[in-house]
Amino acid sequence: MRLTDEIRKKLRVTVDYTNMTDKYLGEKGYSQKTIDAHKKIAKAAHAYVAENRGKDELFMGWTELPYNQDAIVADILATAKDVRKKFDYFVVLGIGGSALGPIMAFNALCHLHYNDLPKSKRKGPKFYVEDNVDPVRMKELLDVIDIKKTCFNVISKSGATSETMTQYLIVADLLKKAGENVKDHLIFTTDASRGNLVKISKELGGVKSFVLGDGVGGRFSELSPVGLLPAAVLGIDIKLLLKGAAYMDKLCKSADLKKNPALLCATLQYIAMNDGKNIGVMLPYSDNLKYISDWYAQLWAESLGKNETLDGKPCNVGQTPVKALGVTDQHSQVQLYTEGPFDKVVTFLSVGGYKEKFPIPHGCEGIPDVSFLGGHTMEELIRAENRATAFALTKAGRLNYTITLPELNEFTLGQLLFLFELQTAYAGAMLNINTFNQPGVEAGKKATFALLGKPGYEEQQKALAGAAPDPAYLV
Ligand code: PA5
Repeated sequence: MRLTDEIRKKLRVTVDYTNMTDKYLGEKGYSQKTIDAHKKIAKAAHAYVAENRGKDELFMGWTELPYNQDAIVADILATAKDVRKKFDYFVVLGIGGSALGPIMAFNALCHLHYNDLPKSKRKGPKFYVEDNVDPVRMKELLDVIDIKKTCFNVISKSGATSETMTQYLIVADLLKKAGENVKDHLIFTTDASRGNLVKISKELGGVKSFVLGDGVGGRFSELSPVGLLPAAVLGIDIKLLLKGAAYMDKLCKSADLKKNPALLCATLQYIAMNDGKNIGVMLPYSDNLKYISDWYAQLWAESLGKNETLDGKPCNVGQTPVKALGVTDQHSQVQLYTEGPFDKVVTFLSVGGYKEKFPIPHGCEGIPDVSFLGGHTMEELIRAENRATAFALTKAGRLNYTITLPELNEFTLGQLLFLFELQTAYAGAMLNINTFNQPGVEAGKKATFALLGKPGYEEQQKALAGAAPDPAYLV
């Protein structure tokens, strides 16, 4: 795609917050006065992000990913070409921020039944992301891949994550037993120097490796080699993805809420959080955007769910992200959103034009409940249901706003990812918390080490023994 100013404008991702306002929601909505009262805090959050962008020591290196990866992108594209030539299967081993991005981009930009397509119709090898240590899943993955024809992309910043390293141990052992040169089947994506994968690479004689920069945390890493390598292997245009991110960055330069979509979303969510709206529902009307909800859930939850402010004061902040899918969840959760507690903000993700329209044939002429559908398209139907649900929620006084992608492609997805990343950084600054750490996740990791007898965790082991289930409460 050749990007002209006109095309950029046509493909611009927009935010419509009509249904957050008192004008349309009555007393349940927010007045212009309320929104204006937050201009100062929004401006301060904007200044914090602008002043600290790119600073590795603050884990804000991700802001520069759209601009500073030319050499890395060239290496990724060459490696991806090689992978496509040599392998029939590409398996990502990773979890959390090292998996959710690759899953989301695969789902968003590839055929929804990609792995079922014949080789001639796929741009790359069959693709799997293994982000759990369920033994059944491991065994059943091995049932469907040929390990001798598989490239494993081990993604772990620390190289110390039990889940990923367990998977690594299993596949390395299997490759060895199959008589393969283990390193030829591996690509590592990891920290430049500190991660254990660096040591393992040396031991194996030099595994092809990509670096996850110091200032890029897992959940902000989709636009780094974590996400770019798997995407490139799948034939996704990663340069266009980065251009989309850069475009959104440009659209978010202003400290004016009306001119900065990420700052606007962060401010609306901040107002809502302070108003007791502790649940944020992500409701994409597109199967291709289904897993953006999982990716966003981690970004929003792990970044904002904190118990201490930056100046050391206790707090308990954050908003619980709920994943839903339009229209599927209209027949499941929308009842609750419409009539349940007033504790939610619904973010609609809408697509302006779907890549398929799919006409609905005429038929069942004697049955009015069915015949009215004939002559329309499935695209018309899904868009009508999207509009109708937003209308119904608004009528019921439920806060909702809509982010629209004019169409779904690399450029618009790049915009959306960067919008959410900036929104999260702004919201964290407004809440005055450390957006980029995850002490709660670390605690669980350490408890697992203790339970499995890792040396150095003896004290925790004792504490855990004391926390064993009490038979008095077993029913
Ligand atoms: O966002 C994060 O930092 C986490 O979700 C990590 O990505 C996750 O815990 C995996 O860590 P690592 O990449 O070190 O294996």
